[in-house]
Amino acid sequence: MPAGTSTSTNTTTTPSAEGEFTGKTALVTGAASGIGLEVARRLAAAGASVVVADHNEAGAKDVADALTEAGGRAVAVRVDVTDPESVRRAVESGAETFGGLHLAVNNAGIAGASAPTGEYAVADWQRVIDTNLNGVFYSLRYELPRILASGGGAVVNMSSILGTNGFAGSPAYSAAKHAVVGLTKTAAVEYAAQGVRVNAVAPGFIDTPLLQGAEAQREHLISLHPQGRLGTAEEVAELTLFLLSDRASFVNGSYHLVDGGYAAR
Ligand code: NAI
Repeated sequence: MPAGTSTSTNTTTTPSAEGEFTGKTALVTGAASGIGLEVARRLAAAGASVVVADHNEAGAKDVADALTEAGGRAVAVRVDVTDPESVRRAVESGAETFGGLHLAVNNAGIAGASAPTGEYAVADWQRVIDTNLNGVFYSLRYELPRILASGGGAVVNMSSILGTNGFAGSPAYSAAKHAVVGLTKTAAVEYAAQGVRVNAVAPGFIDTPLLQGAEAQREHLISLHPQGRLGTAEEVAELTLFLLSDRASFVNGSYHLVDGGYAAR
């Protein structure tokens, strides 16, 4: 853990009876690993009932079991966000387990292959767009009616610093993350008057399993951040929980950087 970063010190403690998210149900996609796991852990520690959704079924179950053992309320649900029917079933089953849905973090994503645009394999393009863009749309498509039926709430879509910047070798990833910003703004405008806020979080490069395979590039990636290091899942979760909370009651339809100064250069 780098100096000066926050850690999730209260995630193994029993949630207080009056946590910030007590009485709320939250669905987190990609919650078996990395950023989604840390978001799920913090939500459960703050009293939310958490639907731990991932296509890694065993990983999701381990996370849900750990959150429950720590005194939280959580259930694992298998979801493949590239499959709209799978997303519909996951949202319905999560909402039925806990009696509604108030919060959603559409976070499942992949890095995808690295190649210049003129050489990018079409199948690789489709895989990244299916996961990182279509997956967010399918999630919103089935979450929003449930959130409305539960009286309103808040959504965070996981974009990226590559939601506003290009990155050589990542045409599909960058295109998908830009599109997530457009989806976020549109849904925010559509549902603001009905008590649903929708925001996008834009991390710089974060030290999670997603970067496995980019070890050779690690020093280069670090050099892109003026703070001289990669970010942590905890730092992304901190911003995500703020946006989900009532503390962010007038924050809507925006793109929120957590990037160690990457975009400021
Ligand atoms: P991670 O690889 O640690 O976790 C991603 C999770 O998504 C995994 O549990 C995986 O099983 C799940 N997943 C992947 N495809 C899925 C599918 N089709 N259906 C359901 N679940 C699926 O990655 P990390 O870093 O936690 O990434 C989370 C989000 O943050 C992603 O959307 C990623 O693009 C975004 N992000 C990550 C950055 C980084 O540098 N790590 C930077 C900016 C954004």
